Amino acid sequence: MPLVPGRQILEEALKGGYGVGAFNVNNMEQIQSIMMAARETQSPVIIQASRGALKYSNLIYLHHLMLAAAEENPDIPLAMHLDHGNNLESAKTAVGLGFTSVMIDGSLKEDGKTPTTYQENVDVTSAVVQYCHKFGVSVEGEIGTLGGIEDGVGSGQIHLTDPDQAITFIKATKLDYLALAIGTSHGAYKFKVAPKLATDIVDKVRAKTPIPLVMHGSSSVPKELVDEINKYGGKMPNTMGVPIPAIQECIKKGVAKINVDTDGRLAITGAIRKVFVEEPSKFDPRDYLTPARAAHAKVVAERMRQFGAAGHAKDYKCITLEDNKAYYASKGL
Ligand code: G3H
Ligand code: 13P
Ligand code: ZN
Repeated sequence: MPLVPGRQILEEALKGGYGVGAFNVNNMEQIQSIMMAARETQSPVIIQASRGALKYSNLIYLHHLMLAAAEENPDIPLAMHLDHGNNLESAKTAVGLGFTSVMIDGSLKEDGKTPTTYQENVDVTSAVVQYCHKFGVSVEGEIGTLGGIEDGVGSGQIHLTDPDQAITFIKATKLDYLALAIGTSHGAYKFKVAPKLATDIVDKVRAKTPIPLVMHGSSSVPKELVDEINKYGGKMPNTMGVPIPAIQECIKKGVAKINVDTDGRLAITGAIRKVFVEEPSKFDPRDYLTPARAAHAKVVAERMRQFGAAGHAKDYKCITLEDNKAYYASKGL
C-alpha cells in the first residue's frame, strides 16, 4: 500500500475514538520496530522524522526506508510525517521525499527556539498549507509553545494555547490538524511532580472545531525503562513524563495524534547498555541492535494498545495523495 495522507489516518482515528501514535525515527532499526509493533497490534501508525533525523540519515536513506516500510506492510495504514518543520523550504524537502504529512512549527522562528508573533505563525503556516495541499500532503500546525529543548526544538518556555486564537488560526490557515500546548514538553525531564495538564484547552478547542488535535511531548518516561538504563551505568535522575491516563483523557476529548520519541530512545538505550555491561566481549552491532529493536517494538506496541489504535488497521480503505489532492481542490482547501 502506498503511504497514506495523514489527514485520513487522523480523521478515521477521531471517528473511531482512538489515538494514533506518531513515533520518531532516525534509522532502519527504529522504522522496523515501529512496523513490527503495528503488525503485531494491527494499528494504523505515523512515522515521523525531525529535521535532525533527516540530517542524520542524509535524507535519501529515510526516504527509501519508509518506502520499504510501506511495501513490507501493505495492510497497515502508514503515514510519513515531517516533525517540527521550521520553514517553507523544509516542507518542500519533505514533499519532495514523498512524505504524506508535514508539520510546520510556526510557533517558533526558524531557529526552533524563539517564539513568533501570531501573524508570523499564520503567514508561514498558510504558505506551507497552500504548497502541501497542491500535492495532497496534509499539514499540522502549532499554536502555543512547548517547554523543553531537544536539539533546538522548543523555546524552553511554555505558553499554553489560547483556545480562541486556536480557532481563528485554523480558519486563517486551513490546516488539517493542530498541535496544542497544554503543559507538556519534549524530552525525559518534563515534570518534577505528577502533572495536571490543561485539558480544558482541548475541550474548548474541540467544542468549536472538528479537526484532529495533536499532543507533542507525550512520552510517559516509564520508571522501568529509566531504571534499566541506570542499572547498566546510565545517569538519568529525576525523570518524569506524561501519565498514560492523562493521554487517554485527552484522546477521549479529541486528541488524535500523539507524539512519542523519548520512550523509544529510553527502550533502545537500556537494551544496548544491558548487552554492553553483561556481555562485554560482544562487538557485532547485531548483538545489541536486535534486543534494542525488540525493546523499542515492545514499548511502541504498548502505546498502540493504550491509545486504543490496536485492531483498527483494517477499518477503512486507504486513499492516495492523488485522492487527497482532489479532496482539497473540491473543498477549496
Ligand atoms: O520534537 C522533538 C523530537 O523528539 C525530535 O527530536 O530534533 O532530537 O530529532 P530531535
Ligand atoms: P517526547 O520527547 O515526549 O517523546 O515528545 C516527542 C515529540 O513531541 C516529537 O515531536
Ligand atoms: Zn514535538
